[in-house]
Amino acid sequence: MKYETIHGLSIPKIGFGMWRIGGDSYPDPSLDADSVTALRTALEVGYTHFDTAESYAAGHSEELLGRAVREMNTDRKTLFITTKISPEHLHYEQVLHSCQSSLRRLGMEYVDLYLIHWPRIGMKFDETFRALNQLVRDGKVRHLGVSNFNLKQLKQAQSFSETPLLTNQVPYRLPDRSYAENGVLEYCQQNDILLTAYSPIKFRNLSVNQTIHTIAQAHSATPYQIALAWLVAQPRVITIPMSFNPQHIRENLEAADIELTEDEFNTLSGLY
Ligand SMILES: NC(=O)c1ccc[n+]([C@@H]2O[C@H](COP(=O)([O-])OP(=O)(O)OC[C@H]3O[C@@H](n4cnc5c(N)ncnc54)[C@H](OP(=O)(O)O)[C@@H]3O)[C@@H](O)[C@H]2O)c1
Repeated sequence: MKYETIHGLSIPKIGFGMWRIGGDSYPDPSLDADSVTALRTALEVGYTHFDTAESYAAGHSEELLGRAVREMNTDRKTLFITTKISPEHLHYEQVLHSCQSSLRRLGMEYVDLYLIHWPRIGMKFDETFRALNQLVRDGKVRHLGVSNFNLKQLKQAQSFSETPLLTNQVPYRLPDRSYAENGVLEYCQQNDILLTAYSPIKFRNLSVNQTIHTIAQAHSATPYQIALAWLVAQPRVITIPMSFNPQHIRENLEAADIELTEDEFNTLSGLY
């Protein structure tokens, strides 16, 4: 595994995304068995960063993560848990209440990283961050971050956070460079903020792109692993692919160890 070292922390380049674990917007009991298997596999093969949210399966994703960690007797201290507050809960009391509810569902005393899931038009940064800063001071949250914030919003959030913002979690993948084009990636790289790339492999022609296939063959890897390796190769970028499939879960973690040549990296960057 490769890591990003930032503000005294070592964060793995590849973590485990949890959208659809336990259901989409609502709990789906028919997914529980596959969800638990996926989480147990992820813990077994060595994922330590798990990315969930209060909105994922309306909190059931957090419950299943807590359950898997306890059942596997995993030492909490070895894990890095991210969860997110929904944009409809950004008032002071709501932030404190949402965080407490997430901790209860997780069965944990703190989360490592707490993100504002989406910015909300007209949101009162001072009020939201008064609560978020309080959570950090109380030890319920170790680090703060944001998600889906443009450059202006990111700078605003930074100015209200008493501790350095750890990340902006945004869509970033080979065919989607919008957060590179809008200046967020470069700003993060120059200001010690991680860019967490979400939906890194969810795009239509990934498995049939001939260029990606050729590079994959050279590394005895799959095209999906190459798409992840392209992200891993970039400074201050980490990523959080999701899978229910035990083989994919393992392959995604192993993608962090692929060393692309400069030529391969540039070729991939020139695609799309
Ligand atoms: N902050 C936000 O607003 C936001 C938005 C979207 C996502 N996210 C986070 O980012 C995480 C990842 O994004 P995502 O779940 O949208 O998309 P993704 O991880 O890019 O793609 C997931 C899909 O790819 C398939 N897959 C995964 N690994 C594979 C492999 N090695 N080979 C072939 N297929 C593979 C999975 O199917 P199988 O199950 O069959 O493997 C699944 O259908 C989410 O789970 C969530 O934690 C955050």
